[in-house]
Amino acid sequence: MTSIGIDFGTTNSVAANYSADVVEVIPIGEPPSEWVAMGFDSVLPSVVALDEDRVMHFGWQAKTMATDKKFEAIKRLFKAEEIATAGGEDFLVEEVAAAIFRHIRQRILATGLDFSSAVITVPANSRGLARYRTRVCAGIGGIEPLGLINEPTAAAMAYSRRQIGEEQNVLVLDFGGGTLDVTLLDTRDGMFFEQASAGIPRLGGIDFDNAIFQDLIQHVPGAEQWTTADKNRVRLDIEMAKIALSSADEHTIINELIPGGFRLTRPRLNELIRPLIERSGPPIERVLNDVRMGPGDVDVLLLVGGTTNVPAVRQFVSEIVGREPATGVDPMTAIAEGAAIAAAILTGEETDSDFVVSTEHSLGTVTLNPSEGRLEFAPIIPRNQKLPAKQTETFFPIFDDQESVRVQVIEGDETQPVEHPDNVILTEFDVPIDPPRPASEAGFDVTYTYDADGLLHVDVIDAMTGATVTDRVTVTFKGARDPKDLVSIAGRVRSAVDDSTPTAPTTAASQTEDPRTTELVNRARSKVMPFVDDAEAAVISELVDQTLEASSEELTHAQGALEEELRKYSFLW
Ligand SMILES: Nc1ncnc2c1ncn2[C@@H]1O[C@H](COP(=O)(O)OP(=O)(O)OP(=O)(O)O)[C@@H](O)[C@H]1O
Ligand SMILES: [Mg+2]
Repeated sequence: MTSIGIDFGTTNSVAANYSADVVEVIPIGEPPSEWVAMGFDSVLPSVVALDEDRVMHFGWQAKTMATDKKFEAIKRLFKAEEIATAGGEDFLVEEVAAAIFRHIRQRILATGLDFSSAVITVPANSRGLARYRTRVCAGIGGIEPLGLINEPTAAAMAYSRRQIGEEQNVLVLDFGGGTLDVTLLDTRDGMFFEQASAGIPRLGGIDFDNAIFQDLIQHVPGAEQWTTADKNRVRLDIEMAKIALSSADEHTIINELIPGGFRLTRPRLNELIRPLIERSGPPIERVLNDVRMGPGDVDVLLLVGGTTNVPAVRQFVSEIVGREPATGVDPMTAIAEGAAIAAAILTGEETDSDFVVSTEHSLGTVTLNPSEGRLEFAPIIPRNQKLPAKQTETFFPIFDDQESVRVQVIEGDETQPVEHPDNVILTEFDVPIDPPRPASEAGFDVTYTYDADGLLHVDVIDAMTGATVTDRVTVTFKGARDPKDLVSIAGRVRSAVDDSTPTAPTTAASQTEDPRTTELVNRARSKVMPFVDDAEAAVISELVDQTLEASSEELTHAQGALEEELRKYSFLW
């Protein structure tokens, strides 16, 4: 049995496999030799590039291609963007991300591992829409998400496997290519509890590279004439120079665009990136404040993410926390390794440990404060709450005889004004008050249920009559796509990525019989068939009929065939 974990990173993706109690990184990338020498032997750049024929290329090939049609850091767009643009080409964000997932899937299958599902990691600070999109894009790429796990928690799981001991407070600082995440976990007896998290969604190694680039173009003659492809070429050398300076004192970038060379020293690099490094201080302090701890209470400082290899970063963080970083984990692969352990826990293969996920943002409703005449964020599920979480609050209308009230589901930080950019209205709907009555008698109970993957369901009950006034609302995030669009994206992704690469492995059907049939048939009819085109619906309908009509000898086979077909659409449920 294999349990797969995938760290879908802003700049690099990593996959790991847990099998028979051993965790191994899967070699999904084929880096050029100069990158292998810098420790990038098992990562796949999360990059897609198009050639002149608009054929998609992935990973190292895409990263090192001289083209302006290059899609990088796509994960940064998950939070709010719809479209990814490069070199005049527009793609839906989901299409590019799903294509990367599909490529990862093909690479894993090519190593001979048979799998169809995986645990996928997300930054601890990622919001509802970003989590939802991660799930959907993995599914479109043909990887059914077993679950999502926060990246710092995954890293702590990878670390603690080697260091089982007494109860410890582990502060994880994950500083990658695109995001900074700080999480404090309490680990004991193989259990991982997230205590508090904070982060900066757009701060990472890419910003270090940009700072160097800005400096370089001021010193290199002719830089203003560079095309986008030229700039991409230079950025690659800049990234290599930055990495080289983690161990060397100086490095000179020389290429055909910079024939005279550009010399960079470690002190100059430190000067350029200092303001960026200092931004990691406040999230660390916020996390410690949230749990009322001082730096002295941290037992383990775990640094993960490639950017923590920068000596100035390590030094800055160690000084704030007052302890040296832990050793024994690979900062680039620890998150994927932890995700593989999480996958093994979810499939029941690993029973010695477990993990608990918590929220990084508050969820609530918007209320009017009548005396001050302003809107307020009334939290229902506060931040740092363990998931799954369920909480009910009672609200009253402002005026007597109101016929309805509007419920606005808000996610963010209740200490900030409702209009603050950190606060997002996820959805809104009207709740009828029937019959209309004095405000003091018209209370309604709003229950938020937040599942372990960070998806929210809302129920509203009339507190006086006990009647359910709205059917359960599952918060489909603003910006989430229509199921029909997802199906057409999936079709495009399959044809763009699948060439001569291996196809999906066939999965053995479940042993349980009638309930399984019911479940599969319901899934086909309610979740998939309404959204696919007629030809696809006909295929599924045929498989449904075969399952319903199968003799007991044929049943397992028929169920398996139906399940296999439905798996293509796992992003719909
Ligand atoms: N030895 C090194 N010295 C300096 N920087 C490094 C080193 N190794 C990797 N990096 C940088 O780390 C970043 C990649 O780290 P990582 O692969 O952990 O990020 P990611 O997981 O893709 O991003 P994120 O976690 O933000 O989504 C890149 O910016 C890379 O240049
Ligand atoms: Mg990362």
